[in-house]
Amino acid sequence: MRVIAIDGPAGAGKSTIGRALAARLGLEYLDTGAMYRAVTFAALGSDVALDDSAAVGALARALRLEVGERGVFVDGVDATRAIRTAEITGAVSVVAANSEVRAEMRSRQQAWAAARGGGVIEGRDIGSVVFPDAELKLYLTASPRTRAERRVAEAGGDVDEIERAIATRDHYDSNRRDSPLVRADGSIVVDTTGMDVDQVLAYIEGLMAGKDQPAQ
Ligand code: DC
Repeated sequence: MRVIAIDGPAGAGKSTIGRALAARLGLEYLDTGAMYRAVTFAALGSDVALDDSAAVGALARALRLEVGERGVFVDGVDATRAIRTAEITGAVSVVAANSEVRAEMRSRQQAWAAARGGGVIEGRDIGSVVFPDAELKLYLTASPRTRAERRVAEAGGDVDEIERAIATRDHYDSNRRDSPLVRADGSIVVDTTGMDVDQVLAYIEGLMAGKDQPAQ
């Protein structure tokens, strides 16, 4: 299996870089954040309370979930846009802290990669928990201001407000018990502050080329 793991906080450029890297390497790309968002979307659309971890876990296990090039489908419903709303973004950290949900998503992510011989997989715990033996583990980050500015450039909004919302979510994602956002052992930190997409890609390709060199 050829797995490239990309972790890091919100707005660090993981999706943009992950998609581009996958295309260049001829691998498929998986956005695992979209999976947690999809479970959140399904839970909010049901009569299950978000803090009822057993019920949300059962809902996650029963969910038909497609996350791919065509978009995100939840039990056959196109939720590609709906999973990006502020409502979902505000609620997703609670669902992502649910160990039953995480166990289910982790096994789906591992099955996804096994079926394809690997892939470029993006999230918070990919290099630390889901694929600790990944060929390359990247921890993408950028200053909070830069990350907020990128979000504003993509989707609009007030930069101060978005910076605060990102900080709250990162704090929650980094401090949960199960599979928190951490710099995985063996990961390479790439601070993308002040770098554009091409510069980040060139840097990562340089890292990969270096890895291919025989040890001296
Ligand atoms: O990358 P994103 O913003 O779409 O992720 C949505 C949420 O899902 C994020 O707040 C943390 C969570 N997440 C996670 O806990 N583990 C992952 N592998 C990916 C995302």
